[in-house]
Amino acid sequence: MLQKVKDLSEEISKISVKSPEELESFRIKYLSKKGTISVLFDDFRNVPAEDKKELGQKLNLLKQSALEKYNTLKESLLSSEDLSEKTDLTRPSFPFTLGSRHPISIVRNEIIDIFSRIGFTVEEGPEIEDDDHVFTKLNFAPEHPARDMQDTFYISRLSPEDSNPEDILLRTHTSSVQIRVMQKQKPPIRAIFPGRVFRNEAISARAHCIFHQVEGLYIDENVSFADLKQTLLFFAREMFGKETEIRLRPSYFPFTEPSAELDVSCKICGGKGCNVCKHTGWLEILGCGMVHPNVLEACNIDSKKYTGFAFGMGIERITMLKYQVNDLRLYFENDIRFLDQFKTSL
Ligand code: DAH
Repeated sequence: MLQKVKDLSEEISKISVKSPEELESFRIKYLSKKGTISVLFDDFRNVPAEDKKELGQKLNLLKQSALEKYNTLKESLLSSEDLSEKTDLTRPSFPFTLGSRHPISIVRNEIIDIFSRIGFTVEEGPEIEDDDHVFTKLNFAPEHPARDMQDTFYISRLSPEDSNPEDILLRTHTSSVQIRVMQKQKPPIRAIFPGRVFRNEAISARAHCIFHQVEGLYIDENVSFADLKQTLLFFAREMFGKETEIRLRPSYFPFTEPSAELDVSCKICGGKGCNVCKHTGWLEILGCGMVHPNVLEACNIDSKKYTGFAFGMGIERITMLKYQVNDLRLYFENDIRFLDQFKTSL
């Protein structure tokens, strides 16, 4: 009987099945109530008592391995069935869902791209600044309203009444980076400075306490207002399309003289007048001007030898015009339904 158990165990280990019918015959032959293993258990009763222990163990092992064999045969049958019948291997694989860039990043990258094509490098400066770089060296008078607590987030202030060059604050514009760059580099300087800025404004559709700007600066010998105009025309046409027209309106900034604001022709209505351009045909996009001699001198640059131009634009504003997103709050809420719409842009 011992030999029978051994032979059977070998026989079972070699079996393979190709169909559910073959699997079922395996079960009936070995594992059913009248199957070979049950018959052996019946015979076991007649085995002499001294052999029962060893034989009993072997029999139990045989039954167990036959059961295991049955289960593995069943599993392999199921999985091969899955592949061959239920799965269509020619179907496209499950697509990865791509994330999207934030519209502000898309437009910032585009601005950087446009200016790098005409030789502008990119620099960054600190968001936490001192009054000296944000205001004083940019020729802001001590009592200028922009220094007011109403507009500026102060971190530390030497005196509650008066502003002081050592006061620490969150920069209210990226023009501060002009000063940092002019302090450490000698002309020629041709660079843009993208970054976040902060102003103490109540949050609404049209104002936010955090937003983004790109500042531009070009200092060299003989830089003229005509250079500024041509650079901005190039930018406007690259950004908003070849047909875009520009116009410069006189303005005032403490750090430029003369100063101007740049409008581009409204690309929604082609200049005819619509809701977006408030029926004027023009959209304001940036402030600019010739760098004030006081600013150059404050950074130890000889204002008799060098001249330059500067400009500063809000990225949210350009993004609004490009994508018609008219509520500033959307840029900061990270609502996936909003962000998903920029999936195709780089
Ligand atoms: N800093 C100005 C602002 O935040 C923008 C600006 C105007 C920057 C004129 C300039 C400039 O460089 O020349 O409103």
